[in-house]
Amino acid sequence: DQKDTVYAPNESADMKTTAPQAPQGRLTNHSGNAAPSNTNSLTAGERGPVLLQDWHLLERMAHFNRERVPERVVHAKGSGAFGTFRVTRAIPELTAAGLFQKEGAECRMLARFSTVAGERGFPDTVRDPRGFALKFYTEDGNWDMVGNNTPIFFVRDAIKFQDFIHSQKRHPVTGRRSNAMQFDFWGLRPESLHQVMYLFGDRGLPRSYRFMNGYSSHTYSLWNEQGERFYVKWHFHSQQGVQNLTEDLAAKIASENSDYHFQDLFDAIDQGDYPKWTVSIQVMPEADAETYHINPFDLTKVWPHADYPLMQVGEFELNENPQNYFAEIEQAAFEPSNMPRGFGASPDKMLQARLMSYADAHRYRIGINYAALPVNKAACPVMTYHRDGQTRFDGNFGGTPVYEPNSYGGPDVPADTLQEPPMPLGSMADRFGWPEDDADLYGQPRELYRVMSEGERGRLAMNFAGALAGVPDFIVDRFVGHLEKVSAELSSGVRDGIAKKRAIAKPELTDLLTETHTHAAGGDQKPQ
Ligand code: HEM
Repeated sequence: DQKDTVYAPNESADMKTTAPQAPQGRLTNHSGNAAPSNTNSLTAGERGPVLLQDWHLLERMAHFNRERVPERVVHAKGSGAFGTFRVTRAIPELTAAGLFQKEGAECRMLARFSTVAGERGFPDTVRDPRGFALKFYTEDGNWDMVGNNTPIFFVRDAIKFQDFIHSQKRHPVTGRRSNAMQFDFWGLRPESLHQVMYLFGDRGLPRSYRFMNGYSSHTYSLWNEQGERFYVKWHFHSQQGVQNLTEDLAAKIASENSDYHFQDLFDAIDQGDYPKWTVSIQVMPEADAETYHINPFDLTKVWPHADYPLMQVGEFELNENPQNYFAEIEQAAFEPSNMPRGFGASPDKMLQARLMSYADAHRYRIGINYAALPVNKAACPVMTYHRDGQTRFDGNFGGTPVYEPNSYGGPDVPADTLQEPPMPLGSMADRFGWPEDDADLYGQPRELYRVMSEGERGRLAMNFAGALAGVPDFIVDRFVGHLEKVSAELSSGVRDGIAKKRAIAKPELTDLLTETHTHAAGGDQKPQ
């Protein structure tokens, strides 16, 4: 049960008596020169000063100052593990992807789960969507599926993504996160309502990464040898079941173990209790996209399963903890544009932008040669004409030709290379908006509210109330106005909840301190 897990003794790697793979032998500098001492700096005389010729000290300080790479601008805090993906149903009729040609085929993979808005030190159990990033090292190159634990998203045009994320981050004056900024943005961009209701419902606080589902959220595509295209949404259902924390329990855990989700995933794998997910797809033939009543490229909408049922195609198990967090998780570089043949994107406006954004982020965060790092390296041969660049730590393709075509050999694109089917795009270029009518903005949020249990509806109202109680009235009124259009029960529950929260007098901080020491000018020396 949840309580037991919180207080379970920590049996993680840090509690073991021996460090794995501790090398024996002489300490050196980074060039292999034996270190003269790792305790005492070289000084002129017993009391110092330090001599500049203490290269060992200088190298230690210089390297330490450069230990950090920039943290991810979003999803900064994440936990990950390696595992195995297995095909449970071959789908050659849908895709030419080598991965899906044979039932029972297996592929090594990496998963990284994350919170979105907080920095790397943020508590794990905060209300936030969770990232659900998967990298499959297939024989045709890496396939990355960079999803979330929600089937939809807050905005549907990448041009609003930066504004949305800024509203989730820290206020420019106070340096604090701000419910006012968040609800201001959400109230002014009501297409976010569907996702915001997910976020403030039970699924906004997963019990741990093992107990949540993942979704591609976007519509992607698959294409087969015959040149047919299918639009596809991916679903990753936790075989541990979906379990969530209450607001109170999440807050308690946050104050006692800010790395609770990190610990849960690591310890489960360490103890051989490998978490598993079922992989399923919803499949829409290309022609349906023209006529289906929901725009299949609108990231704020789901496809009802009654129209496009789930088809299970695989499952994966996470069974190997990283050997080193920085090397394998911090340097992991996921990119939605990593799609071997047989996988494709879709016209989804957000997805299109993401195809560019991630590789760009990696070049800045880790450096141009990030794809050659062991955790990102493809399982098949990589043959490009890219050369040089910072931290080119492999052989840089040796003496092989650096241009194509050439008379000396080297990789090229054979004429019979299987091509993605052409996509008809016969329309005018313009800055098109979205419909933003009642059905568009409130239809699926109403449906989500309808399928919630009575208990979850009550918690949803109180979670909203808790977050809105300290927010200025004009922002509250605008946001609750949208909830009103979802359900009168919900909006009045939220209003009642806000009134109750505001009526509770907060104790004065000074009443809660153990003792207040006044330091008079001139120095009243209190015990240190
Ligand atoms: C991380 C951009 C929407 C899921 C990131 C990163 C960037 C980014 C720059 C940091 C990458 C890094 O430094 O390694 C964007 C943009 C979006 C967008 C521009 C919209 C246009 C989404 C959506 C989803 C998503 C809709 C989910 C469906 C993730 C995940 C990560 C991430 C899971 C963390 C990957 C990891 O574990 O390393 N995003 N994002 N993002 N994003 Fe997005």
